[in-house]
Amino acid sequence: MGIQITPSILNTDFSRLGEEIARIPSADWIHVDVMDNHFVPNLTFGPSMIEALNRATETPLDAHLMIEDADRNAPAYAEAGADSVTFHIEATKAPIRLAREIRLQGARASMALKPATPIEPYEDLLPELDMLLIMTVEPGFGGQKFLDLCLPKIRRARALMEKHGVETWLQVDGGVSLETIERCAEAGADVFVAGSAVYSASDPDAMVRQLKVTAEMASPLL
Ligand code: DX5
Ligand code: ZN
Repeated sequence: MGIQITPSILNTDFSRLGEEIARIPSADWIHVDVMDNHFVPNLTFGPSMIEALNRATETPLDAHLMIEDADRNAPAYAEAGADSVTFHIEATKAPIRLAREIRLQGARASMALKPATPIEPYEDLLPELDMLLIMTVEPGFGGQKFLDLCLPKIRRARALMEKHGVETWLQVDGGVSLETIERCAEAGADVFVAGSAVYSASDPDAMVRQLKVTAEMASPLL
């Protein structure tokens, strides 16, 4: 699949989301941060926003669910039309059942790990997942500083994917910028969320393309 960039709309003008998305035609996906004010101390969108965004853009939607009780609440986002649904392992009791349910709804199933959550206990789940998200900040807000301490986990996750021979994508999210993306790509990430780096740029679409080229040059996967 190569390197993909999925800009986060978290720090955009919510009253003009259609226009904000239209500014980044080079994006491979649109990253939609769903927050419930319980799993994280912030509140954003529900499934009806996924339906509205789907009507506003052809670009596939990458829903990142930072919500409690994912077992009960996540399938609604696949049903609403998200093309990829990411639940947090810290918020689910039955990740295998949930991943299968998301896939049955026709979406890609993805699982996220907070910075302090290790990958090793979950390596046998990799074949059930279309993507693994390794958070590189504590989830909840855009514009935070990238945590370098997550880099060894990215490297270990990529090695486990090779060991299991899976096609699972490896996404990173939080503080990804022109300054940090090379380190993530070099460690084995292939899908990159970038919020403030894209939307604080004077030309957001040029930034998307620049991030992609920078990751491609650093990636050992290509
Ligand atoms: C943080 C969100 C991220 C965030 C990324 O909890 O999951 O997707 O919007 O924003 P930046 O790129 O500014 O860290
Ligand atoms: Zn996110």
